[in-house]
Amino acid sequence: EKGGYRHFMLKEIYEQPRALADTLAGRIREEQGDVYLEDLALSDEELGGVAKLNIVACGTSWHAALVGKFLIEKLARLPVEVDIASEFRYRDPIITPDTLTLLISQSGETADTLAGLREAKGKGGKVVAICNVLDSSIARESHGVIYTHAGPEIGVASTKAFTTQLVALVLFALKLARVRGLLDADGCRALTDELVKLPRKIEEALEQDEAIEEVARLYMNASDFLYLGRGNQYPIALEGALKLKEISYIHAEGYPAGEMKHGPIALIDENLPVVVLLPNNDTREKVISNMQEVRARAGKVIAVTDHDDPLVRDNADQVLVFPSTCDDLMPVILSVPMQLLAYHIAVLKGTDVDQPRNLAKSVTVE
Ligand code: F6R
Repeated sequence: EKGGYRHFMLKEIYEQPRALADTLAGRIREEQGDVYLEDLALSDEELGGVAKLNIVACGTSWHAALVGKFLIEKLARLPVEVDIASEFRYRDPIITPDTLTLLISQSGETADTLAGLREAKGKGGKVVAICNVLDSSIARESHGVIYTHAGPEIGVASTKAFTTQLVALVLFALKLARVRGLLDADGCRALTDELVKLPRKIEEALEQDEAIEEVARLYMNASDFLYLGRGNQYPIALEGALKLKEISYIHAEGYPAGEMKHGPIALIDENLPVVVLLPNNDTREKVISNMQEVRARAGKVIAVTDHDDPLVRDNADQVLVFPSTCDDLMPVILSVPMQLLAYHIAVLKGTDVDQPRNLAKSVTVE
């Protein structure tokens, strides 16, 4: 059942190229330069009339929501608010008829997310879901659904469900951008051409498995980790920290790199590994100066990047290099090292990777 893998989590990490390809299958209209979301159930007119989007989710799915805000605000220029479901449901959110609420849930059964859906619907808003489980409560009660086609996820720590959520969000952002007239066919094709290359690039990213395991060996005894990222990599820093906490029981925090000076820099000493997400984009130099700040205080820097050069080497203790894609899709690629680093540290520590203590796969009670 584990297909030769030692754990479901590892099997599911390695299934990502297939899961991403399945989530894209049939949804890209190359000739029209558009995307097709078969179960979205909202007409172009209804989608075009949306004035505000709320995205509501828990845990890893909430991290996907945070990436979604970047994608949708950038591509479709639609204001997006992101909430943790247990907060959203009790804060009397403002829902007008032109508000769309998007729930993100792998299982489709998370109690707080389902309650958030009912709250939005009860206030007269339209609701759609990004969901992995067919016919789950959240899928059934939503007006429309974008299914991720990750296949069953058994490991408690979410992996392939997360990256397929990211890809579903890219497709949804493209759809919104097209109906809002903010993207022409060529602009859409520019991104979908990169999307179709993603499964192959994730395969290449997985080839770094052994290099990541080496890094895991170096830092497996640390008692705390810091994960830093900027922009659309900040949610990936949060996700890296969550994966590590969940399965290795090591305390970890994710921070926007620019927040370091506002507090977390006080934690840095020679015992603190800092995982830095460093995509080759226009904030690269700022992130490199954050790395310098860590090293000046004897902290250890593990740079995770798609662009290796002397500047990175000079400012990092370890450098892990991954394939490049456009900036909007880099969060998908850099999720892979977050998953594998947590996985290898947990295995080295001998924890129960697939069934970590105190956690349930689906949180169906409050
Ligand atoms: C983390 C993890 C949890 C879930 C969260 C939401 O690895 O698995 O944080 O992401 O419980 O679950 P779903 O997406 O099923 O609503």
